[in-house]
Amino acid sequence: MVPSILAADFGALRRQVGEVLAAGARIIHVDVMDGHFVEPISIGPPVVAALREQVEEAGGILDVHMMVERPERHVAELAKAGGHSLTVHAEATPQLALALERVRELGCGVGVAINPATPPEAVREVAEAVDLVLCMTVNPGWGGQPFIDRSPGKVRRLRALLGERPAIEVDGGIDRRTAPLCAAAGATLFVAGAAIFSAPEPAAAFKELAEAVAGGG
Ligand code: DX5
Ligand code: ZN
Repeated sequence: MVPSILAADFGALRRQVGEVLAAGARIIHVDVMDGHFVEPISIGPPVVAALREQVEEAGGILDVHMMVERPERHVAELAKAGGHSLTVHAEATPQLALALERVRELGCGVGVAINPATPPEAVREVAEAVDLVLCMTVNPGWGGQPFIDRSPGKVRRLRALLGERPAIEVDGGIDRRTAPLCAAAGATLFVAGAAIFSAPEPAAAFKELAEAVAGGG
């Protein structure tokens, strides 16, 4: 289970990240949005830099989801700030292979993301070059949206296309009901924002979700 800080209280970010790390989270998802690829503007390298030490001390990593146009122009800055894994959208650049090569050269984990309307086949030519395929299960840009019900079928087709590797991460509308559906379809990483940080106790919500995925229900 991968907490997304988009739904966190940014005024209490360090405390809330500390709570989910203490509850066992080892991957923290950071949503970078540029106001172009998606409508909202969220956060960028300074917030990654601010979290780096805390997450590394806990033995964790920062999973940076770049919802930005021409991501190949920004990967170096995010790697320098402390992003351990950088995921770029297939729709965000005509130079997808180049963007992924740059991430690899920076020594980061390499991820490619696809939007709900993008078919699994869009990642076929780069499958060998990535560690992670992120399958959006809502339209990117906002937390707290309802899960798109077609998503488990798409995850299943992605898994068939990709084989056993790489990891498949689902992102958007993930909760106790939808995470097990995605797990059964072949997803291996589950990003959750609202289901963790909008809960009264994020640490307890994290543990419940982790158990729901492990138990298949
Ligand atoms: C949406 C972001 C997600 C978001 C998910 O564009 O990529 O990571 O935080 O939020 P929830 O879990 O609330 O749908
Ligand atoms: Zn995300």
